Amino acid sequence: MDTRIYHIDPKNIDMQSIGAAAAVIRRGGLVAFPTETVYGLGADAFCEEAVKNIYKAKGRPSDNPLIVHISDFGMLDMLAAEVPYSAKKLMEAFMPGPVTVIVPKSDRVSDTVTGGLDTVAVRFPSDPAANALIAAARTPIAAPSANLSGKPSPTTAKHVIDDLSGRVDCIIAGGDCEAGVESTVIDTTRAVPVILRPGIITLEDVRSIIPSAEVDKNVAEAVSITDKPRCPGMKYKHYAPDAEVVVVEGGKNAVKREIDRLISENRDKITGVMTCSDNTYDAEVVICAGNTMAEYAHNLFTNLRRFDELGVQLVFAEFRSEGGCALAVKNRLYKAAAHRVIYAD
Ligand code: TXA
Ligand code: MG
Repeated sequence: MDTRIYHIDPKNIDMQSIGAAAAVIRRGGLVAFPTETVYGLGADAFCEEAVKNIYKAKGRPSDNPLIVHISDFGMLDMLAAEVPYSAKKLMEAFMPGPVTVIVPKSDRVSDTVTGGLDTVAVRFPSDPAANALIAAARTPIAAPSANLSGKPSPTTAKHVIDDLSGRVDCIIAGGDCEAGVESTVIDTTRAVPVILRPGIITLEDVRSIIPSAEVDKNVAEAVSITDKPRCPGMKYKHYAPDAEVVVVEGGKNAVKREIDRLISENRDKITGVMTCSDNTYDAEVVICAGNTMAEYAHNLFTNLRRFDELGVQLVFAEFRSEGGCALAVKNRLYKAAAHRVIYAD
């Protein structure tokens, strides 16, 4: 398949390109587009064939449900059978923005979108290109992240082009995604709202609106390989680069000592280090993760892909679980490392 690429300037969006991409959605095609979290791979949420093609293009298991994207609250009526009180409050507070709410689905939403569940995930992105695309398509857009299944989510147009050229009809190539990690997913269909996937909108943010909100225990209890996984899904690698990743957590000096030791033990491999301190290392590739958690999140998937491009076989990632969106970073990093975590002290 020929993939049409529209390069757009995020500060000055060319509506002709958006119109052409929206026409692709309307005729049942697939369009990759930027959002403020990661790039999405979109199709008309009400076109069964198109939604099936998303799973094919990504190589994604069909029991993993998709998020449906809207560009105004009016579109919610088509998707939700009911909007729980907590969903209303969270939408008011955080939408448009990097958050997704799970609500009971309407009859119009197919099992193909929800993976057979009776709920639907709804997101109203703030990214102007995403918004313009959905509005011009005049239909809610079902979209997972625009990576091949199992690869790190795409946060630049290049990542999307690398993964999906030849597999989708059109790519809107805009700027780098601001957040760099996927939206915070909140289930509002239970007695109290539960964060199923952490993101830039943190538990503290959610609790400022609904104080009883919780984090799902499979997210909160991230385990290292020395522990027994608490649920089968946690055994699997997601967001995984080709390189093996080992997370090294702890104080700056202890982490330095441990990574130095690991590098010298692995001289037969091409090693890389992702740093979040001013530690220096004698590895083939050293990449800075950033000085704050927000930077760590913004750079994470780009860095993981970069190590692969440079042929690194073994990556040691410095990490300190502190502040802001630490839980979101930890969740992705531990998955990329398939829960190989060393606590240095
Ligand atoms: O930031 C984002 O959310 C990006 C951009 C493109 O919007 N999208 C994204 O989609 O990350 P995806 O498909 O990669 O992740 C969707 C997550 C999956 O973990 C899926 O299992 C969960 O949301 N999900 C979707 N519908 C659900 C439902 N009805 N109940 C529970 N979880 C659901
Ligand atoms: Mg994804």
